[in-house]
Amino acid sequence: MNEQLLGGISCEEFLRDYWQKRPLLVRNAMPGFTGLIEPDALFKLASDEDVSARLVFQKDHRWELERGPFARKDFKSARRSPVWTLLIQELNHYVPAAEALLQQFDFIPHARLDDLMVSYATPGAGVGPHFDSYDVFLLQGWGRRRWQISAQADLALIDGIPLKILQNFEPEQEWILAPGDMLYLPPHYAHDGVAVDECMTYSVGFRAPSTQEIATQFLVYMQDKIQLDGQYQDPDLIVQTHPAQIGEAMVAQVAAMIARVQWERADVIDFLGRYLTEPKPHVYFHPPERPASETAFEEKVRRHGLHLAPQSQMLFHDARYYLNGEEVSLADCSELLQLLADKRSIPGQAFTPAWRDWMYQAYLDGYVRLAESR
Ligand code: SIN
Ligand code: CO
Repeated sequence: MNEQLLGGISCEEFLRDYWQKRPLLVRNAMPGFTGLIEPDALFKLASDEDVSARLVFQKDHRWELERGPFARKDFKSARRSPVWTLLIQELNHYVPAAEALLQQFDFIPHARLDDLMVSYATPGAGVGPHFDSYDVFLLQGWGRRRWQISAQADLALIDGIPLKILQNFEPEQEWILAPGDMLYLPPHYAHDGVAVDECMTYSVGFRAPSTQEIATQFLVYMQDKIQLDGQYQDPDLIVQTHPAQIGEAMVAQVAAMIARVQWERADVIDFLGRYLTEPKPHVYFHPPERPASETAFEEKVRRHGLHLAPQSQMLFHDARYYLNGEEVSLADCSELLQLLADKRSIPGQAFTPAWRDWMYQAYLDGYVRLAESR
């Protein structure tokens, strides 16, 4: 990894001293960086109904939030203030250069990565003082943004508005970030970014799911896994004084039934593989419009290799591989699958007939793409 990204410290030092602990401001983290997308192209993206786009602005001192898709005229609408922010989630699904940018953050496990968000703000705009439940690297594209941050413990939010805005924000530090500068913030760190000029900011976000979310999702997973035999029985039933009362014997028997719901480490691994690679509900894959035949596919892969579609998520644990919410059933291809998961691409010379059928199906599903079509 290039050490300039973290201001001259190694990724080991960053993880030890800053990650999940304290903010880090890096001037010129990416020299010459001015962004990955022009505003016009971003506005066009915001008109696509598959794209998760939000508009934030204040009207009569009240915060307002609108969800896309947006037409050009929405940005000029007279009913809205001229000070507004457009936020687009998952830029890495639409812009190949965004994926390359994310690869610079490979020193953090892919299992933690959420997405690359981009914001476009008119001068003076921002989304208000707030905190995120994410680790985030805020990378400045073109234009400048003033960031104020605070380690405050008071994270109470204003009630009854469509955005998360802190009731009391007490900034402790502030900087103006110019193109290529970057600010890392751990979760729950209060911050407020206001555009100095018309500007664009890229947020590399790393999810940190709550215990509640993990537990709820694990129970959903377990629901399909449990196989318990037996049935409620009461051959010794006796007459109750209150027929409406749930009897003690019933409570005890049901408690014993529920106690038979158990899981092992292998279930936790399988759950994590599926849960962490599960595409978000609004994510769509795009199967090839005119797919190559299996023979032509093999030839093209041999020549140029292939890569994961930008929407694809792939992770592994030991020899278990997961792609987009499902386990990959492909024996004896560990090395290749590891390469695909780590690098998101494989070169042509890695081709072996052993994985052709599986990979061809993944290609037809839109999960992987031929390298030449990138
Ligand atoms: C923004 O880019 O406007 C907001 C990013 C953030 O505060 O998380
Ligand atoms: Co934020």
